[in-house]
Amino acid sequence: MSGDASVSDLATAARLVRDARRIVVFSGAGVSAESGIDTFRTEGGFWQRYPPEEFGTPMGLAKLYAADPARLARFLEELVGPIACAAPNPGHQALAALERGIASRGGALTVITQNVDALHQEAGNSAVHEIHGSMFDIVDAEGRALRRLERPELARIADALARSQRGLFKRTRLARALLPLIGLPSAGTWTQPRHRPSVVMFGEALAEPAWQRAQAAARQADLVLVVGTSGLVYPAATIPELATDAGARLIEVGPERAFDGIWLPGKAGEVLPALVADPAPS
Ligand code: APR
Repeated sequence: MSGDASVSDLATAARLVRDARRIVVFSGAGVSAESGIDTFRTEGGFWQRYPPEEFGTPMGLAKLYAADPARLARFLEELVGPIACAAPNPGHQALAALERGIASRGGALTVITQNVDALHQEAGNSAVHEIHGSMFDIVDAEGRALRRLERPELARIADALARSQRGLFKRTRLARALLPLIGLPSAGTWTQPRHRPSVVMFGEALAEPAWQRAQAAARQADLVLVVGTSGLVYPAATIPELATDAGARLIEVGPERAFDGIWLPGKAGEVLPALVADPAPS
């Protein structure tokens, strides 16, 4: 483990994990970094390459679609492609093992994630609240569920996005490449697509009922395990405080510290397996 956490921090944290009965995991992009998906705000991160005010809102995408479809296609390919070919890493797998372990002791573990990559579910976690929505859940214009994409289909969309950046008629080819993911009305306006992923963009309300259920789980937790988030985006980042205000202890895993509690510096894929496996002395 990197950073200045002492072995006793790990032992203390492992004991808290072992003794907990209701754990809430609050995860961000960092838990998926070792699966090949970029984080947003670290050096060279996604929002440094693609400013969120331009790429993170429906209106911003609408302007790009009109003005620079090739740049929009490149952004979407870089967003969708890594998610399409990602697989759970040892950090995700440790959290799934932790859910099985705590269930065997009569407890429960709930994952509240800001990520849209469905890797927690693929690793085996069963109680997952995707408060920023999902790249795989396609909803209609009113937000009603239409269907769920499979990862190979998302990979085909990413390939089509890459091809759409070459040659003529880029806008038409972009709209065709996106069709399984985003259904643009004939006018091609991005702000009212016929269908889209349930991914929550800046300025939009968080996904429901995920957000209500996440807050309820946080209020009932006796331990909140924060993994791989800068804690800068609200209201999502209120989750750890909701838990600690209700009496939960806090453990944070990641190379940078964002919350008060036991900080275990390092990568999720390295720290979480050690935390979950550590046979805390009874
Ligand atoms: N393991 C654990 N943490 C890591 C790793 C790793 N291997 N690599 C990076 N991190 C940490 C970074 O140090 C940073 O603190 O993950 C955090 C990622 O922070 P952000 O990039 O801000 O991502 P996140 O906190 O998930 O952003 C929240 O902002 O733009 C919106 O909707 C987007 O859901 C996202 C939200």
